Amino acid sequence: MATMDQLKEKVLSCTACKLAATRTNAVFGGGNFHARVLFIGEGPGQQEDLSGLPFVGRAGKLLDQMLDAVDLSREKDIFITNMVKCRPPGNRDPQPDEVSTCIEYLHEQIRLIAPQYIVCLGRVAAQSLIDPNFRVTKQHGQFIEKDGTLMMGTFHPAALLRNPRQKVDAFDDFCKLRDRLLESEASL
Ligand code: URA
Repeated sequence: MATMDQLKEKVLSCTACKLAATRTNAVFGGGNFHARVLFIGEGPGQQEDLSGLPFVGRAGKLLDQMLDAVDLSREKDIFITNMVKCRPPGNRDPQPDEVSTCIEYLHEQIRLIAPQYIVCLGRVAAQSLIDPNFRVTKQHGQFIEKDGTLMMGTFHPAALLRNPRQKVDAFDDFCKLRDRLLESEASL
């Protein structure tokens, strides 16, 4: 198994799918790879493509506020990455062939991090990793065990920027995550 650094090298120079031709930087992910929680978004946007860092645009700022509100820090408590590591042009959804080419990198990240919890931000991640028919509005906040990892889908922060009314439900999901983390810490 590759180390995290070796995997990062591979991702940053990857040309395995057509997104490589239009990206500025591949975005590996960031945070603490010893964390108990892995957050997975959809794919880099413009700011992420330019900086090479995950969730640094408006959606990322909102995510930071939500994490902060439940006392979780990006640097210490989570690692965050995306289904695809390169920006889909114009922020379109990543296409199935792009996801299936890139997913091996995500699987390697999951093996290396071995998180207790995986939070899927939005439909693309939740449908790929939890259930192909996952409906975020109906199933958000439910924890489902898969291969020893507890998986939860919630709203993508970019969707919350478009539909601020859903922030209440999303915040509730973040509280559930925080409560579970505190419970499992207490039982260690
Ligand atoms: N949206 C995502 O899904 N990922 C990012 O890194 C930024 C915005």
